Amino acid sequence: MRRHQLNIQLKTPEQIDLMRRAGLVVANALAAMRAAVAPGVTTADLDAIAEKVIRDAGGVPSFKGYHGYPGSICSSVNEQIVHAIPSPQQVLREGDLISLDCGAVLDGWHGDAAITVPVGETNPALVKMAEVAEESMWAGIAAAARGVLSGRGRLTDIGHAVETAVRAGGRYGIVDGYGGHGIGTEMHQDPHVLNHGRPGRGIKLSPGLCLAIEPMITMGSPRSVELEDGWTVVTRDNSVAAHVEHSIALLDDGAWVLTAPDGGRERLGELLTARAGARSTSTPS
Ligand code: MF3
Ligand code: CO
Repeated sequence: MRRHQLNIQLKTPEQIDLMRRAGLVVANALAAMRAAVAPGVTTADLDAIAEKVIRDAGGVPSFKGYHGYPGSICSSVNEQIVHAIPSPQQVLREGDLISLDCGAVLDGWHGDAAITVPVGETNPALVKMAEVAEESMWAGIAAAARGVLSGRGRLTDIGHAVETAVRAGGRYGIVDGYGGHGIGTEMHQDPHVLNHGRPGRGIKLSPGLCLAIEPMITMGSPRSVELEDGWTVVTRDNSVAAHVEHSIALLDDGAWVLTAPDGGRERLGELLTARAGARSTSTPS
């Protein structure tokens, strides 16, 4: 039973095209940050890089000022899971694992995505965790695409696919109490998207539904703590965490990964039949 009536904003194809523009700005900001990650770089340096890419494209960093959040990105290092505030004091070191989360609003429409990147030579077990997080995100996206294609998909099919992929990847914690969300004219909209659970429940996966899918996993416990800064979420057991995210739009012919440069074409092509793949080639980007 739902505690409240969900407010679901279904988007028209024209609105989804606008969301794609915002999504590509986020993709470009993340690519610029990925290229800059290295020992000696500060998380404030990465924040400045993202903000410049977003503003040069005519967008606004959506995180800045969100409930008073001071940064343009969240830069969560090692045991930090999400929402860590960038700082000139935080210098990246060889072996760190950093999750970079970035959002932009362009012409009133939002994009939101995250990547997890090793800093130099990093423990292979941590690199593997980041890969499993990424795999699980794509499993969730593929489940959403399949669900809209069959016409029988339900929201919790996504979390079920994420969880199944994480469990298949190894022994990881799936962070409790956090998940993905609807996205559109606000960064956070209904519905909440769990990263675990039983399939076949929740709202129907319909064309026009736009979601941010964002697995958060740890080398240990699923439990987290929010620090006294009111933002930074860390693992309770201090184990290292990974967080990845894409914003997607459901179309009648599958899923369009709005924050992937290729629209998700390559990964969805591998995971689905050709018909179910993203239609990024036929859509202006
Ligand atoms: N990208 C985050 C999310 O998916 C939001 C960051 S919170 C903010 O929920 F305060 F930094 F904006
Ligand atoms: Co998000």
